[in-house]
Amino acid sequence: MNIVVLCGGLSAERDVSIASGTLVAAALRRRGHKAVLVDLFFGYPHHFQDPSEIFDTVYDDGIATVSENAPDLDAVRASRQQAGDSRMGDNIIEVCRAADIVFMALHGEDGEDGKVQAVFDLAGIRYTGTGPLGSAIAMNKHISTQLFAQNGILTPRGVVLKKGDGFLSDIGFPCVVKPSARGSSVGVSIVQSQSDLKPALEYGFKYDDELIIEQYINGRECSVGVLDGKALPVIEIRPKTGFYDYKNKYQSGLTDEICPADFPPDITKRLQQAAERVYAVLKLEVYARIDFFVDAAGDLWCLEANTLPGLTPVSLLPQEAAAAGMSYEDLCQAIIDHSLKKYGVKS
Ligand SMILES: Nc1ncnc2c1ncn2[C@@H]1O[C@H](COP(=O)(O)OP(=O)(O)O)[C@@H](O)[C@H]1O
Ligand SMILES: [Mg+2]
Repeated sequence: MNIVVLCGGLSAERDVSIASGTLVAAALRRRGHKAVLVDLFFGYPHHFQDPSEIFDTVYDDGIATVSENAPDLDAVRASRQQAGDSRMGDNIIEVCRAADIVFMALHGEDGEDGKVQAVFDLAGIRYTGTGPLGSAIAMNKHISTQLFAQNGILTPRGVVLKKGDGFLSDIGFPCVVKPSARGSSVGVSIVQSQSDLKPALEYGFKYDDELIIEQYINGRECSVGVLDGKALPVIEIRPKTGFYDYKNKYQSGLTDEICPADFPPDITKRLQQAAERVYAVLKLEVYARIDFFVDAAGDLWCLEANTLPGLTPVSLLPQEAAAAGMSYEDLCQAIIDHSLKKYGVKS
């Protein structure tokens, strides 16, 4: 198949996305596909007779690593030749329309939030994963945690704070300050006391106009992938220092990941059932990864759902797939096959 692997974009997670996309494109090529990596923000700014020429590009597999800090998006914006405010680069629609399917390797804004999916639905372009509605719901932690609570899925108590609003939190300390609609732990702080709250809010507001101040959960952190509605093995996450922040997520060796996680069978089963329920409640499609904490009493706390979970060399979903006997290539192919089913196409 001819596949565009779409990555980058003007998102705080653009570097992570480029790492995911690089690996996905290489895996798809090993499976015999013609897969090209295209950056959503930079587009395909070249002259062409026919957009399908792009699939004959000779490709360098590149190196899929992520630097320690999130990228400077002003610098990214300034480095583009194309003028104007469009967050979609030149010829994105043309080259994506020439593909049999677009593999969504985007993370965060402009990709995981459903906007690109909405444009593609209107343009008749096939893509992998969840559609616009589920993506938008899952991206917003304020909305998604309300839906968890309404559907009997335990989630930390939180209050929402908009930039410029006065603020009164009854959450207490420690608490967690996080952007409503970002990922990769960008802008997230664990706040121990009142004096640390203001800097944490200022830091969070650098990334989003709306923050959540949330009850801190003391427990074992884990995540559960879901593929085609069915849970994969649970993975436990143990950062060697601090919490699972951007650096601990993407620098190899800083976090121990245990898969399958060593939980009692009943907890594993409840985690997998909860993940499948979240997937259904939020209207997710094809695949997702749901984050949890398990506390000492055995209660399961759901933090959030990721509709385009990382596919980098250190990411969790590929490790879960491996524990279920699927290689990285199998996982990418399964994502394509299940996505094509939505369009009534057999791969
Ligand atoms: N309520 C919480 N209690 C304890 N730790 C938390 C809580 N919320 C977030 N964290 C920590 O912050 C990380 C990022 O938070 P998360 O809600 O998963 O957002 P995202 O991964 O989208 O940035 C989590 O993986 C976890 O380590
Ligand atoms: Mg998370």
